[in-house]
Amino acid sequence: MTGASSGIGAQLAKEIAKAGGKPILIARSADKLGELCKTIYRDYQIDCPVYPLDLKSEAAVQSTAEVIFEDNGGDQCFDQ
Ligand SMILES: NC(=O)c1ccc[n+]([C@@H]2O[C@H](COP(=O)([O-])OP(=O)(O)OC[C@H]3O[C@@H](n4cnc5c(N)ncnc54)[C@H](OP(=O)(O)O)[C@@H]3O)[C@@H](O)[C@H]2O)c1
Repeated sequence: MTGASSGIGAQLAKEIAKAGGKPILIARSADKLGELCKTIYRDYQIDCPVYPLDLKSEAAVQSTAEVIFEDNGGDQCFDQ
């Protein structure tokens, strides 16, 4: 979920967790993503992976996407 640190993205991440999914939280603000991660764990017992990332950096997007695939089971991480 890009833009997960506030607004629509944060709300959608909560809805995904509420429905039993595990949203992968992405935005620049690591502190806000950490808070959302804690809130989702408290409310839904889902442990969300957090990846602070500036989407304006193509190189960072590429390298983070590779790490996300490695950490979260490759193509399956987009199944939900
Ligand atoms: N709210 C509405 O009613 C509404 C209606 C129609 C369309 N929209 C559009 O929907 C989008 C989201 O709206 P919102 O109200 O949820 O906005 P928001 O609360 O400002 O959220 C924007 C999100 O994008 C992240 N973000 C911004 N630049 C980024 C970057 N370079 N790299 C990574 N993450 C970045 C921000 O996190 P960080 O700052 O932590 O990176 C934040 O999580 C916007 O494009 C808005 O124009 C909103």
